[in-house]
Amino acid sequence: MLWPETTRRTDLGELSVGGVPLADLADEFGTPLYVFDEVTLGKRADSVLAAVRGTDGHAEAVFAAKALSIPAVLSLLHEMGLGIDVVSGGELHAALQAGVAPGSITFHGNNKDEEELRAAIQAPVGLIVVDNFHEFDILERLPANRAMPQQVLIRLNPGIDVHTHGKIATGIIDSKFGFPLWNGDATAAVERALTIKRVSLAGYHVHLGSQLFDLQAPVLAARLMIDFAAAVHQRTGVAPRVVSAGGGMGIAYDGETVEVNMQEWVERTVEAINARCTRHNLPLPTVVFEPGRSLVGQAGVAVYRVGSRKEIQGVRTYVSVDGGMADNIRPTLYDARYTAELANRQGDQEDQETVTIAGKYCESGDVLIEDIRLPRLLPGDLLALPAAGAYCIPLASNYNMSLRPAVVMVNESKPTLIRRRETFYDLLATSVM
Ligand SMILES: Cc1ncc(COP(=O)(O)O)c(C=O)c1O
Repeated sequence: MLWPETTRRTDLGELSVGGVPLADLADEFGTPLYVFDEVTLGKRADSVLAAVRGTDGHAEAVFAAKALSIPAVLSLLHEMGLGIDVVSGGELHAALQAGVAPGSITFHGNNKDEEELRAAIQAPVGLIVVDNFHEFDILERLPANRAMPQQVLIRLNPGIDVHTHGKIATGIIDSKFGFPLWNGDATAAVERALTIKRVSLAGYHVHLGSQLFDLQAPVLAARLMIDFAAAVHQRTGVAPRVVSAGGGMGIAYDGETVEVNMQEWVERTVEAINARCTRHNLPLPTVVFEPGRSLVGQAGVAVYRVGSRKEIQGVRTYVSVDGGMADNIRPTLYDARYTAELANRQGDQEDQETVTIAGKYCESGDVLIEDIRLPRLLPGDLLALPAAGAYCIPLASNYNMSLRPAVVMVNESKPTLIRRRETFYDLLATSVM
């Protein structure tokens, strides 16, 4: 599914989401604008929760906040029953401010510093996923917050190649994430964890990358994780209580891609983990999943206002909009391919042209969509990009001193501003003159 479930064309030909024409939202909140459909968000969360609750064993889901770290979204998803996975002191702060129970928070990251680990322990978060020996050094010297030791997972790197963009593959041999399984580091990490009194080794974690469609790789990674856990168990008697299989479930960005079936992903992973544990005589652990994109991607639509047009005979026609790489870096960073629709009117569908949608920033690479067929766009038209809910707003910048956009949640014809547009004042608020 590409568009939010409540997306419709009104009788006037306007595109609406959650019962509100995008044109009305653009007038009220300005463009670029990010619009989230609460119904879609709720349904996506329901389907993840149904998948984890429907397994034979005990499984849980945490939302990877890096995909959309807006407090209103974190609290909505947490209230529905999801934990929250954070990767920085900032995301931890956002989750706590959003009212997320500290025990439902998992703290990730490949270079957590002392301040971040101190804050995590003070919260105290449910799990810290230790990524490297430096973090063990810090954990060893930090004072404990309570009688109970801090629960930790060890992030394993299984060294598995996956079919995705190189910049979002995280479990390959040449990766900055996790303890390699093949060179003794993972074993040494376990030994280290077992010597630190303030931490308790709850289990292990793997995450191969993002926007994955082939289930074989995550299932293989889960098996390798359990084989490793079994070897540790045999040596030390320590069995994992929790294993995290990460996130990475792929979604559709255009009409051609079919998104991953969440239920199948969860079922097959849990089955593989349980079967492997049974084979190794390990008690069945709680299995955690960490979806990010698949929870919020479809719920979000980006809305831009059309401006200039440049026709280069025999080369291409550029139509520029009032946003671009500052609010959505994904096409520039990952060659992400989006689609779009004219949002303020139907347009003449019989008379389409091929155009390239460019952003307004001073980079030739600032192109949102290369070669898309659309009705002829006029200055002032609105263009809506679906599947813009994940990794756009969190990766947004102030490049060219641009203002990061407003974010609105819509439900039953009612818009709620969940993040206001920045102002010129915000731009200079941290400058010292
Ligand atoms: C450790 C970890 N878990 C979960 C995720 C979420 O991935 P996705 O948004 O593809 O589901 C990421 C994304 O980078 C991650 O690094």
